[in-house]
Amino acid sequence: MGVTTTEWIGVILGCLPLLGFVLWWWNELWYVVLRGRDSNKKLPPGHLGLPFIGDTVTFLWYFKFLRRPDGYINAKRRKYGEGEGLFRTHLFGSPSIIACEPLVTKFVLQSSEDKFISEWPNIALLGPTSLNAVQGKEHARIRSVVTNAVNRRDALRRIALLIQPRVVAALDSWAQKGGINAYLETKKVTLENIGKLFVSFEPGDLLDSIDELFKGVLNGIRAYPLDFPGTAYRHGLKCKKKLDEIFGKELQKRKNMKVVEPVDLMDGLMQIKDEEGNILSDTEILDNMVSLVVGGYTSTALASMWAIYFLAKFPNVLHRLREENMALRKAKTGDFITAEEISKAKYTNMVVEETLRMGNISLSAFRSTVKEVEYKGYKLPQGWRVIVWLRNLHIDPKNFEDPMCFNPDRWNEPPKPGTFQVFGGGKRICAGNMLARLQLGILLHYLSTGYKWELVNPEDGMVCLPHQKPEDGAEVFFSAL
Ligand code: HEM
Repeated sequence: MGVTTTEWIGVILGCLPLLGFVLWWWNELWYVVLRGRDSNKKLPPGHLGLPFIGDTVTFLWYFKFLRRPDGYINAKRRKYGEGEGLFRTHLFGSPSIIACEPLVTKFVLQSSEDKFISEWPNIALLGPTSLNAVQGKEHARIRSVVTNAVNRRDALRRIALLIQPRVVAALDSWAQKGGINAYLETKKVTLENIGKLFVSFEPGDLLDSIDELFKGVLNGIRAYPLDFPGTAYRHGLKCKKKLDEIFGKELQKRKNMKVVEPVDLMDGLMQIKDEEGNILSDTEILDNMVSLVVGGYTSTALASMWAIYFLAKFPNVLHRLREENMALRKAKTGDFITAEEISKAKYTNMVVEETLRMGNISLSAFRSTVKEVEYKGYKLPQGWRVIVWLRNLHIDPKNFEDPMCFNPDRWNEPPKPGTFQVFGGGKRICAGNMLARLQLGILLHYLSTGYKWELVNPEDGMVCLPHQKPEDGAEVFFSAL
């Protein structure tokens, strides 16, 4: 006797709960029970979600649809308790451990490379010899060269003077327009400064095409690494190749010119020697040019946008900032302020730190485990990704009182250990952290001494991906004082 259609439908519907059950527990069975059976330690609490996609849909639900980025971690805390600030999950294709409390965050960031190595998504787009990609001795070598060129005192002194004309001109043009989209405009001025600092390129068609190529690289970094026609990843690879061609041509030109006194980052990278007296190879120079722009471009633009946004929301802070900077302007000795003068402006630096804390430009830093690592009785299995959830540190009331209030005065006291990690930490701490602070300080100086502004849409919502920012990119009415 044949089975009728109705009976088939009944069987399928009857099996659905079973199928759902199997899918829901598949990752747990595979990673926790089968692959984890050799170890007698337990995994941090959590759930690995569905096969392949893991917990990504929940992540996107909170970030993209609800636009409540903290909801994702808070839901885990509610479900599994605070514990040691560790949760297991499966995000963006990898089984992962989220580390979100100061002690464990510090443990991960400060541990040596025999436990955790840095892991950037889609690293091929930055190049195999970029600072972000290399490990161990090679990392120390390239890092010392790169930080010498962008993050040390003498470099910062020179950079401070180089970037000011562009900041001054940009603010003047904003006032003439009467209103701006702060994110788009801070991107523009950041790119102009990068062009000048890195390769002495002036604004124009070449810099515009470089901007487009970097957009392609960034989109590729955030995409799934599917290397076939039409994917963002494939496009990103093509953009990196074109950038290498543009910078490679410039490098060749300079080699033929035999530069003596370095005037920009490319000259610096061509000349600086490591501790053993070796200079960087051409590939190392090109990879690191690209990775420094990737590291410093959007991040600096976002930080600048947040400064404009928070100061518009907190006029009492702007008032005090203005007082300090008016005094600084009177006292300065040259046409431009110096890096030293900015570094001594106490309140300005507190505003910089508070902007970085509240702006939360990097949601997380990434590591992966080289071997099974134990932390307070929990195992972090070999080969898993560790997502150091920086954002949580900065907005947790246990770490910062009234965390959603923009209050630079909190920086009269140092933060509790491990609670302020906007630039990541350990040997991998952001290679441009002092440069980023300097750029913000300079912007604050000129903004506060010359201009007033207010948000066009003060109650505008936030988008959270790929970065948190106001929906309208912080549009402001902008005019001279
Ligand atoms: C507000 C601006 C910035 C923020 C919030 C930021 C944040 C970060 C974070 C969180 C990391 C990962 C650290 C870790 O894994 O522990 C990082 C790494 C890095 N950043 Fe930044 N960054 C900023 C600006 C810059 C600038 C201006 C540059 C250079 C021009 C730069 C270049 C780099 C590089 C090269 C790395 C990799 C360092 C390494 O692996 O040794 N960043 N940054």
